[in-house]
Amino acid sequence: MDLEKKEYIDKIKSLAREKNAVIFAHYYTRPEIQEIADFIGDSLALAQQATRVQADILVMCGVHFMGETMKILCPDKKVLIPDTAAGCSLADSCKAEDLAAFKAQHPDHKVVSYVNTTAEVKALTDVVVTSSNAKKIVDQLPKDAKIIFGPDHNLGSYINSVTGRDMLLWNGACHVHSRFSLEALLQLKKENPGVEVLAHPECKGPILAQSDVIGSTKALLEHTINSPAKRFIIATESGILFEMQRACPDKEFIPVPPEVTEGIGCSCNECEYMRMNTLEKVYNCLLHESPEIQVPKETAEKAISSIQRMLEMS
Ligand code: 13P
Ligand code: SF4
Repeated sequence: MDLEKKEYIDKIKSLAREKNAVIFAHYYTRPEIQEIADFIGDSLALAQQATRVQADILVMCGVHFMGETMKILCPDKKVLIPDTAAGCSLADSCKAEDLAAFKAQHPDHKVVSYVNTTAEVKALTDVVVTSSNAKKIVDQLPKDAKIIFGPDHNLGSYINSVTGRDMLLWNGACHVHSRFSLEALLQLKKENPGVEVLAHPECKGPILAQSDVIGSTKALLEHTINSPAKRFIIATESGILFEMQRACPDKEFIPVPPEVTEGIGCSCNECEYMRMNTLEKVYNCLLHESPEIQVPKETAEKAISSIQRMLEMS
């Protein structure tokens, strides 16, 4: 079936009403997905919102770990994702068996994991964090606590620097955020003197060192809304520009380009996993109520306490 965009939108909306389904979308998804979503947010807001809605079906337009987090928090609801191949290079950089072995080498350490992890990794974790709350949560841990932080090395280094901690860092990275070009950023700053640089903490240290505001997608969006400035240089996945432009039609957003890297499929600052969510797939997943996220009961029971701890400490 190949319907027109408008037809898909109408059919998705009526199917969602009929099936009492709520559609969630991350800020990095395609504009048309953000347009049909009932809730758009960063990973923390999406998890929080999932626990509040009255619905039989939750459709998570984002990546796989976001669907898993929803299913763990809402085990009685049907959680659908439009494409099971929508993974995350950062989550892939930390396998549960490798983390278990690392924990065994450091038995006196607590594990703080970024939300971009599999359910199995969350089951080995003491407290989950997102880019919105990582500093706040690490600040609440005892000053002498020994901590393993994973999987994002860039976020971990940043949190070490703002909390004064010395957490042991996992060596993972997001392939989108770690490839912004410092050279291009310096050139953009030169061409746009005085324009603030906004960056996601998954970016590398040299990019963060050149940034004025470092925060989660939601924090960066809020800054653009609340700031009197009219122009911003943005170092994060470019999907957020849609919501920034929608919220601030009179402002200008200048995306930082990635380094040109041979062998990487996408030479733009887009997360190809997030872009796997299309209107056609949302329609089909609602129609067939598939693919559905399943998390084994034993894993979910272990993982939920680390997610709930995060929600309590946020
Ligand atoms: P946020 O926590 O800002 O939503 O980030 C999630 C993510 O996948 C960033 O790449
Ligand atoms: Fe994962 Fe990076 Fe995509 Fe975020 S942008 S979902 S961290 S691969």
